[in-house]
Formats: sequence, C-alpha cells, structure tokens
Amino acid sequence: MLKKLDQTRSKAIDELSSLSDLKGLEDWRIRHLGKKSALTQILRGLAALPSEERKAVGASANEVKALLERHYGEKKETLKQEAYQDLERTLTVEKIDVTLPGRPISLGRLHPTTQIVREICDIFVALGFQVVEGPEVESDYYNFEALNIPADHPARDMFSTFWIDTEISERPMLLRTHTSPMQIRVMERTRPPVRVVVPGKCYRYEATDATHESMFYQIEGLAVDENITLADLKGTLFEFAKRLFGEERKVRFRCDYFPFVEPGVEIAIDCFACGGAGCRLCSGTGWLEILGAGMVHPDVLRRVNYDPDVYTGFAFGLGLERILMLRYGIDDIRLFYSNDIRFLRQF
Ligand code: PHE
Repeated sequence: MLKKLDQTRSKAIDELSSLSDLKGLEDWRIRHLGKKSALTQILRGLAALPSEERKAVGASANEVKALLERHYGEKKETLKQEAYQDLERTLTVEKIDVTLPGRPISLGRLHPTTQIVREICDIFVALGFQVVEGPEVESDYYNFEALNIPADHPARDMFSTFWIDTEISERPMLLRTHTSPMQIRVMERTRPPVRVVVPGKCYRYEATDATHESMFYQIEGLAVDENITLADLKGTLFEFAKRLFGEERKVRFRCDYFPFVEPGVEIAIDCFACGGAGCRLCSGTGWLEILGAGMVHPDVLRRVNYDPDVYTGFAFGLGLERILMLRYGIDDIRLFYSNDIRFLRQF
C-alpha cells in the first residue's frame, strides 16, 4: 500500500511538470486528487485496514495529498501568470490603431430621370395640378381606341407596339406606348374640373439607337373644365417652359397632328445653347422641340360622358429623356438605363 502511494506521488509530480495549460491542469487534478483517483480510493479504504497498517498508510496518504495539493496550487499560479503574459504579448503585437480614418461609405443618389420627374411634377403641382399614376400594361382600348385610333387606322403606325400574348382580357393587351391612356382613365372616374399630370414609363418596339430606347418616360398633362381654351394651354405651357428652362426662354407653337386632340400643337423653346442662332444642339434650327399638346378632341370627351358643349380641355405629353438630353448635352439616350455608374454619378 505504501509502495502504491509512492508510485502515485511520483507519477503525479512527473505529469505535473510537463503540463503547459490550465485545462491540462484541471484534468490532472481530477485524475490525481478527484473522487476516482487512486489516492482518494486509498484514503476511503483506510477504515477497512488493520489498525497498525492504517496508521502508517493514513499518515503517508495525507502527506501525499498535502504535497499534491501544494504543487497543484503552485502550478496553477504559474500557469495563470503565463496566460496573462501571453495575452499581454498578443495585445502589443496585434494592436489596432483606432485613430485611422475609416473607409468612406459611398452614398447613393437619385437617378437623373427620377430627379426630372420630381422637378416637373413640382412645377405643375404649383400650378394646381394633381399627380397620378397608371398601369404600364394597357388594353388597346385605352392606348388606342378611346384616343381616336381605331384598329387599322393609319395613326397606329405612329406607335411601334409591344403586344402581349395573354388571355386575361377579351381585348388585346400591350405595353402602353404613351401615357395618354391615363387621360381616359382619369376622366372615366372623375367629373370636371380635372387637372392632372401623369409621370410614367412607356414602351415602343424600336430598334434602339442614340435617340431611341424601347423604354422611356413621359409626363402626360390634362386639364378639363368649363371655358378652357387654347389660351390656357399656351399660358400654362409657356409658364412651365420658363420655370424649367429659365425666365428668358422664348416658346414657339406650331401645328402638329395627334388623333386625340384638335387642334394639335408642337411646342419648342429657343435653343439655350446658341440663343436661337443655330448650333449642333438644335441642328442649326435655333429651336428645340420639347412636347406635343392640343385641345382634347370632342369625340374623346364624348366617350367618357363629358359634354363637349359644356367642357373643353387641353392635354400635353413630354418625353423626359429628351429634356434631360437637351439640358445636359447628353448625346445618347441609351446611357440612361445602361447602369454605368460613371454616367450616373454626374447627376
Ligand atoms: N401621347 C403623345 C405621344 O406620345 C403626346 C401627346 C400627348 C400629344 C397629349 C398631345 C397630347 O406622342
């Protein structure tokens, strides 16, 4: 028994000297001082020993226990010290310079088209118009028929159309080719006076080039009331052109044809690049066309149950990309939606 105690002691001391971390030390404690350790077994078994043996073994076992506990305590202190020094070393080597400037966060911004939509809507809101939006997928009734463009009418050739293969409606469906169908939708659900502007996407089945995209934005305008005349159209759009392009702008009205207005006009401003003398921006004409407009056709009014003898109105539609191209001297419409960050960052 005494011999066994001796072995336990030297084995424990041996193992202890090769330990290098606190986890290992805890395992060691369980192994040599824990409930299942040889030492504890011996101490527990003392009562069963003959009394002369019990005395010697008991004394020796307690001695071993005290010795191992002391060594354990000392080793624990040393290992703790070492761990602390390790940490200190890591902290000095891996120190972080919290005074270094951070990486800049890049800020997003509004797309130039969104900016011009807001700017133009603001101008018309200040003139008493309401902003409404409508569907991009339309039936041929709203996009064409209700606007005096029946099937097989040559005026359909003015629009290259994306037709949609669908059975959800009895009527042929398409991606709207202009925002004008909203004239009908607004009048169908309201009674005069009507004053709305309608920004939104339009689609045409175009071969794209520097001045044609298959998707583009328009803003439609519509005002219907008693006693609205061409003078109101001129006054409103004249004011709009000045607010958007500058107080000194001249505005030109000329005849144009759109099936859903009578008379139809085209509006141009004098070229702000050359002041009217003629340059590359205005193709030498001195004028920049900015929108189409006209007095709402009586047949259109009749179709939505407005009495054309009581009510008259004007409508207009302008292409937003064209306005941006004029304003910033952009020579290719495809730049707007090709997502080149170098282009978009400039606005
Ligand atoms: N919808 C026409 C187009 O896209 C523009 C327009 C709108 C003309 C309203 C007159 C009145 O070409």
